[in-house]
Amino acid sequence: MGAVGSKQHARVPKASKLSDVYDDNENSVATRYDTLVSAFKTQFEGEKPKTITRSPGRVNLIGEHIDYEGYSVLPMAIGLDVIVAVSVALKEEGNVEEDEAEATLSIANVDGEKYTPKEFPFDHEQEVDVKSHHWTNYVLCGFKGIFDQLKKQNKLESVLESAFMKRVKKVMVMVDGKVPLGSGLSSSSALNCAVTVALMDAFELSFTKGELSELTCLSERYSGTQSGGMDQAISIMGEKDLAKRIDFNPIGAMDVPLPTNLTFLIGNSCAVSKKAESAHKHYNLRVVECRLAAILMAKHYGEDIEKAKTRVTLREVADLYCNKGDLWTALGAVRKALNEGSYTKKQLENDEGLGDLRKIFDCENNEAFNVVLQKNDTFKLRDRARHVFSEARRVHEFQKICEGQSPRYAVSGPIYEHWCKVIGLVPDVGVASDDPTKDFGHPMYGMGKEDALAKLMHLSHESCKTQYECSCDELDELVDAFMSAGALGARLTGAGWGGCVVAVCESDIAEEILADVKKSFYEKRFQSGVANIADETNLLFKTAPSAGAAILHYDDEKGVIV
Ligand code: GLA
Repeated sequence: MGAVGSKQHARVPKASKLSDVYDDNENSVATRYDTLVSAFKTQFEGEKPKTITRSPGRVNLIGEHIDYEGYSVLPMAIGLDVIVAVSVALKEEGNVEEDEAEATLSIANVDGEKYTPKEFPFDHEQEVDVKSHHWTNYVLCGFKGIFDQLKKQNKLESVLESAFMKRVKKVMVMVDGKVPLGSGLSSSSALNCAVTVALMDAFELSFTKGELSELTCLSERYSGTQSGGMDQAISIMGEKDLAKRIDFNPIGAMDVPLPTNLTFLIGNSCAVSKKAESAHKHYNLRVVECRLAAILMAKHYGEDIEKAKTRVTLREVADLYCNKGDLWTALGAVRKALNEGSYTKKQLENDEGLGDLRKIFDCENNEAFNVVLQKNDTFKLRDRARHVFSEARRVHEFQKICEGQSPRYAVSGPIYEHWCKVIGLVPDVGVASDDPTKDFGHPMYGMGKEDALAKLMHLSHESCKTQYECSCDELDELVDAFMSAGALGARLTGAGWGGCVVAVCESDIAEEILADVKKSFYEKRFQSGVANIADETNLLFKTAPSAGAAILHYDDEKGVIV
């Protein structure tokens, strides 16, 4: 069972009216759906959609790059989403010509000039061409994921043999996305999730939200990034007015109410972060570094080298050896188990006795890791592990404070109390590094809830920047712009290396801050052409927790929703 308040056993809701899902002006939303439907009919020669779904992007408030290490994260779904219309044309019974024709999966986009259509065979075993980076790759991921899930549930054979599946002639998919690409707001997962839910419904299958979250997390890896499950889980399980603590193994989503006097703002750094294209030197490299750190920590705790090599996440090792996962103990252990700076491949393979790294990462079967090991020779382990354990703490503290615990008490745990006693300090929250004796430069004792949350976001950014090295100049500049404009805190959100910043401020000055940041950060970019003024509202805006994935009822006579 997941945490209390989790919704992983529920099904994706069927929305009965647009206001179940959207806060925006209903007319403009309805027009968008009308456009989707007419684009569908034009592209597919008069066919009508059978299922329409939507799934949102997300903004992560805190907990960066720790989902794939097994630790909880704290995102919320945003109003920007991907909408999808799907229909399945069936072969006419007894029509020999149709019977023999190869079934197809045909994918198109409302913005067909920018996102060109593509047709694939209706074959769940086909590979996703990770070298092409075509937008339809994510649709293919969703398609394959459905069949992987059926296989996992031992239902694949029977579904493939069903009268319905045998008669499939053409699956038609039309997409319209509003989540800006490469912005760190998870456009790819919104697309994957919206498509997966639509295909599930069109194929007359039914998975729980938990199953959908897990299957979309795994299926997105076909696109070439070894990402964790945060983006898909919040896109599926998000809810209006609530941030969520997303847990893994087992998956769960616990409600986290945010203080009502605070507003969250999003700003796009205008540095595009192409997750899949740069994965080998950024995202996937970090996954490899964390795994190597976990292996060396297991070795430090006396595990036989062969056993240590089977360790996959830092959490696994901390749970086993660090006082049942106490993060302070884990942070202390990092200093003893891992060298400062970088390790070379040779050092890891020979001096540390890990042998051929390619074997550990099963490179013969995993191209993503294969490329990482081919293209990188140095691996930073200590800094990465330090980020992961300290960020996991910050998520815990953030949640406790949101739930009303005083910042003074949000930190607990025997080791922390012990350290505080030894050095004669009052327990406090928000320690960014692994050494409590050095780190009381960030005291939160006596701070109000709002300042403490903001401070945690600030510390998270610092850790991303200095320990995890996933920030960039534009993100840092935008964080500073928000802070100078009067935000309480600001940090990069999502994978980083470009994309967006999330900032928090007192609600009554949100507009002022937006105006100020527009002046200090965006105006010069509009002038130089780095950003387009027409995109202004998608570059800098207020956000609030929005609904997750939904199936919308389409009625051809009356419009999308009846
Ligand atoms: C990407 C991944 C997520 C997560 C974040 C970083 O968005 O898809 O799983 O790892 O980066 O927190």
